[in-house]
Amino acid sequence: MNPLLRTKPLEQLHAEANSSSHGLRRVLGRYHLIALGIGAVIGTGIFVLTGHAAADFSGPAVALSYILSGLGCLFAGLCYAEYAAALPIAGSAYTYTYATLGEFMAWIIGWDLILEYLFAASTVAVGWSKHFIPFMKDFFGVELPANWCKAPLDYVGGQIIHTSHYVNIPAMVLVWAVTALLVVGIRESARFNNIMVAVKLTIILLIIGLGWGYINWDNLTPFVPENTGTPGQYGWSGVLKGAGVIFFAYIGFDAVSTAAQETRNPQKDMFWGMIGSLLICGLLFVGVSIVLCGMVPYKELHVDAPVVYALEKVAGDSLKWLRMSVEIAVLAGLSSVILVLLMGQPRIFFSMARDGLLPKSFAKIHPKYGTPHITTIVTGLLCSLLAGFLPLNLLGELVSIGTLMAFTVICIGVIVLRRTKPDMPRPYRTPWVPWLPIAGAIICMAQTVLLPSDTWWRLVIWMALGVVVYFAYGRRHSRLNHPQA
Ligand code: ALA
Repeated sequence: MNPLLRTKPLEQLHAEANSSSHGLRRVLGRYHLIALGIGAVIGTGIFVLTGHAAADFSGPAVALSYILSGLGCLFAGLCYAEYAAALPIAGSAYTYTYATLGEFMAWIIGWDLILEYLFAASTVAVGWSKHFIPFMKDFFGVELPANWCKAPLDYVGGQIIHTSHYVNIPAMVLVWAVTALLVVGIRESARFNNIMVAVKLTIILLIIGLGWGYINWDNLTPFVPENTGTPGQYGWSGVLKGAGVIFFAYIGFDAVSTAAQETRNPQKDMFWGMIGSLLICGLLFVGVSIVLCGMVPYKELHVDAPVVYALEKVAGDSLKWLRMSVEIAVLAGLSSVILVLLMGQPRIFFSMARDGLLPKSFAKIHPKYGTPHITTIVTGLLCSLLAGFLPLNLLGELVSIGTLMAFTVICIGVIVLRRTKPDMPRPYRTPWVPWLPIAGAIICMAQTVLLPSDTWWRLVIWMALGVVVYFAYGRRHSRLNHPQA
């Protein structure tokens, strides 16, 4: 068989999923998984992108953009759930693709997921440091030196330029701290995540509850503003473009599936972890969108901190405590996003290494902590270097397009697997196959259509690099070269 198309045998996958010889510890239950999903999802998107998408593309209909994008994620999530229950392996979409579409496609998806996990975590770390600087000033009166809080490179008007800054130290330190926690244990990491999630959920519910009283319903009419004549600027095409932009907000719910080998009962709980967190987050997104666009005219919302801006405008000093709390929620929110994304990436590398597509040492598990410590440390180092030195505004939409591509492949893969392995035991079955996966793939691809063409080019370059790495290393070292081993 053509080595590019060889698939990983299901028996081998089942054996890996059920064995405990991999050394990872099964300690997570259903509620941990839901919290991990919420931890990864609620971050920059809800607090920043909602305002930007409303101001520039969707108007008050940004709530509809969230529903549309959420439907794409829900359909992809239902497909993920079928795989994750049947093949509960830390490699997530990479492993599922290995079982269905073959080694080359699996490598491509694994490479693509680096955008979703590693690059997204770096992007969010930079966002975190942007909020941390004013937080230190407002809460503690400490002014951090600007030169040591930003990257030496920036991306402005299509060009990379040198700035007068040296390095983004806060972003790097946060990534190192999170990495250390992830090395120490999955249980400890999940506990930290639970606390962060509780903080951000409480504050978001307060924003919706208290903000509701300040809604001026005139701000919400017309709900879908008339298109300006340019595709994507308001109107229904604006709703679609807005969906592509706020899709970033949903990124991360699938990271739950990378914890499959550390879950006590993955066959049942993977579904709840992914779909439960997605539904909770989707409802909160729609609630915040309506409250935000109802409080102030949407055109004013393209600011650094739209929620804080809107609360200040409608309530002045009377909700000052809530504004301050939003800052805390943002810091807590973004740190848990980074935590879960940096939890997912090493587990995918770990699975790739076990398959021989990455160096063997990446498949080591810490004898005391039971975590994939080598890949966790490598991921943390790479993430901190990206966050410390590079202009990550270059990457935001690349992360989204890469993730949308992975979701599309997952949707198609479910249809393929139903045909190629009809008898495989499936503890959870995606409903309405093939129609639901087809709809999921169409919605995911549609969201990429209006993203800028240079983002597409960046994706092509990234993928080409992946192909080179595969031919230089993975293909020659794949364990499938020696099936008997
Ligand atoms: N969904 C995550 C965020 O919005 C990546 O920050």
